[in-house]
Formats: sequence, C-alpha cells, structure tokens
Amino acid sequence: MNQLYFISSPVTSLQGDITVPGDKSISHRAIMLGAIAKGTTTITGFLEGEDCLATLNAFKSMGVAIEGPVDQRVVIHGVGKHGLQKPKQIIDCGNSGTTMRLMAGLLAAQSFDSELTGDSSLLKRPMERVSRPLNQMGAEVVTTDGRAPLHIRGGQTLHGIVYEMPHASAQVKSCVLLAGMYAKGETRVIEQSITRDHTERMLIAFSYPLNKIDDAIVINAANECQGTDIIVPGDISSAAFFLVAATLIPGSDLILRNIGINPTRTGILQILQQMGANISIINKKICGEELVADLHVKHAALEGIDIPPSMVPLAIDEFPILFIAASCAKGITTIHGAGELRSKESDRIAAMVEGLQQLGIETEAFEDGACIHGGVLKGGVVDSQHDHRIAMAFAIAGGLAKAPITILNCANVATSFPTFVATANQIHLAIEETYDVN
Ligand code: S3P
Repeated sequence: MNQLYFISSPVTSLQGDITVPGDKSISHRAIMLGAIAKGTTTITGFLEGEDCLATLNAFKSMGVAIEGPVDQRVVIHGVGKHGLQKPKQIIDCGNSGTTMRLMAGLLAAQSFDSELTGDSSLLKRPMERVSRPLNQMGAEVVTTDGRAPLHIRGGQTLHGIVYEMPHASAQVKSCVLLAGMYAKGETRVIEQSITRDHTERMLIAFSYPLNKIDDAIVINAANECQGTDIIVPGDISSAAFFLVAATLIPGSDLILRNIGINPTRTGILQILQQMGANISIINKKICGEELVADLHVKHAALEGIDIPPSMVPLAIDEFPILFIAASCAKGITTIHGAGELRSKESDRIAAMVEGLQQLGIETEAFEDGACIHGGVLKGGVVDSQHDHRIAMAFAIAGGLAKAPITILNCANVATSFPTFVATANQIHLAIEETYDVN
C-alpha cells in the first residue's frame, strides 16, 4: 500500500489570518440529529473529513436522503425518530470512535438489527463502555471480546436508567442520551467530570428538550427533533496545532478565525496560557447554541507546569500537541489523570513519548500520563502510528526542530483535517507530503 508521510522542516516565523475546518464533534452530531429529525436540516461549515463522512454514509445507508457535502454544506431530509431503515450493509465507521459509540446508542433503540465495524485502530478500542449502559437499558448490544464489531439486535424496548459515568467520556454520555430519546421513562446521566456538551446543546438546537436536575442530565422519549439550520464553528482541536506552533516559533503572529470556544473544549487555551502563551480571544459571538471567537496568538516563551488532572477532559484531544509544547518549554511538564489517552486512535502516551525520545527529548511515560523535560528538538524519523493527531503534532515539531522531521503513516490526517498541510504551508510552515511506494 502507498503510505503517506510528511517531511516537516524548520521555519523562522508564522504569519497569517486563517480558518480551520468545521468542528468534528459538532459535525457528527448535526448529521445524526438531522437524520432523525422531522423536516429539513441544513449544515454549513460541515467537516468534510473521513470520520464525519463515515457518519453521513451510515445514515444514507439507512434510507436518509442527504445532499452534499458541497463546499462544507449538507442538506438532510430528516426521516423522523422512527423513520430509519435497516442499513443495506454492515456500517463501517472507519477510524471514527464517535461514529461507532454514538450510533450504538441510536441503533440499540431501532426495530432492526445492525452491525458496526471499523478499521484496525477502531477494532482495538474499548466498546464495553457503551454496550454496558445500553444493555442495562434493555438493549441487546454484543461486543467482540469487549471491542467492535458490535452486533445490535433491534426490536428491544428500552427503559430509562440512572447512569453514573465511570469515567469522563462525552461519547459514552452522548450514546446513553441518544438511547434515552427512545427509552420508557427518564434517562439520567451523571458525570464525575465535565466533558464536551455538544450533544446537549445540539438537542436544544433541534428543539428536543432536556433538563439539568442537580448533577444529572435528564432526557425522555416524549419528543421529536425538529429540522433546523446548523452552522459549525472551526474545530479548536485543529486550531490547537497552529496555536502551539505560533506560540513556539519566534516572530509569529497569527489569527485563527471563527473557532468554537465552547467552555468544555477550551482546556488547551487555559493550559497554554498557564504555561505563558500569548493568546487573545477576540470577537466573541454566539452561533446557535455554541460560542465562537477569533484567536490571536503571538510568540511567547513557555514554562513547564503540572497540568491539573481536572483539566484533562477539557483538552483530551489536544495532548499530542501539548506534548510538543512541553518539549519546547523551559523546565518540566507533568501530566497525570490522562490514562484515557491510551485508548484513543493510538496509545497516545506511548506514541508521543517514543517520538519525543527519538527527537532527543527526555520523557518518561506513566500509566496515566507523562513527564516531559523541555529541551531542543533534533531532527529524525517518528512514527505517527496511523493516528491523525500524532502525525499533525510531529509535523508542527518539524517547524521547531533543529533539522527536518519525517513522520510516517500520515494518511489518517484526512479523518479530521484533510487540508492540514495546505493550511500549515499557507502560514509558512514547510511540510512536504510524500508517498512511500514500498
Ligand atoms: C468526542 C469525545 C472524546 C474525544 C473524541 C470526540 C466526541 O472522546 O476524544 O475525539 O465527539 O464526543 P471520549 O468520549 O472517548 O473521551
């Protein structure tokens, strides 16, 4: 197979005024709720990445008429809550955990059987975290030794449960809430730590009421989603790569426009600011149920910190690039309470620690985090382990290093940020894409 790799060379300063593609989490949810809504939903700013396209294709295969995406615009002719049809084939979620875990919640409540599968990375990821609560609700979701493929038996009557989340996961929370839209009685989800709340906000946008009672998010089956217009803000998880790059490269001055700053996603801003970054949040506005702003970042020297474990869920996808920030900060950065990173598209603690060691940075892995000694990145070769965020993080490292960095196995960058290289080079990074023909 031809494998894509990046060669990223050192650069002197980043300049520009750019946007990044639409938020992945919001794009998935807009397709899902649009499909089961009554009436038409128009999404603008949809992320045309492979993960969200997997979700879009899954609903097409269940009989939902969907136009686009054309120029990030998608029109969904919703079939109503009970209008989905048995999928024509096994649903392939590709690399996308969000597709699999959220759809498991929806499919568990349908009248038909279904099966969810994915690529070799997704087949390794834990799925009992969704089958367990769903089966407590009366569903019949069978994993393959705790992982996908998932076999879902339709025609079950679901009932509401009180679900105390055993760990911080917006995917599991959303899965249970989506099943709760079909369950008899009330479904309550109680979180120990706050995770991204896009599902809750999007349900409100689709006029589906849900309540917050004490610590619980409460939903019941008495309603239908109503089609609506959704504008997807830029993904802060994609913006994060350039926030770190511009912070670390002397002379940089960069504006990122129209970025989602939902408070359950802005851990990256707070952590970088604690480390000494110069990031201003300007032109704040409300966009539907989400907060949006422009981010203005200028070069600043960073210092290592102990990242508070309470911040971890608020920056869960930004740790690969935070490892790079830490590797160029003065002093030591420690991360704890982040064991979930081992169950992402790759084991992100192992992938980052190995890669940084390869580049001459003193790093130690813990079961739930790492300790990174700030230093000087030398050039070299690192393996992204087919993980999009590891690939992009090391591509940024190449701009900061003493010599070029070659990053192997980068094709999955297309799952979340298909235009990454073009955008990076537009702001004066120097990343070359090459195919290994072996
Ligand atoms: C997501 C939730 C997070 C995140 C993932 C997207 C979502 O996963 O890492 O990229 O859209 O709900 P977990 O729920 O596993 O923490």
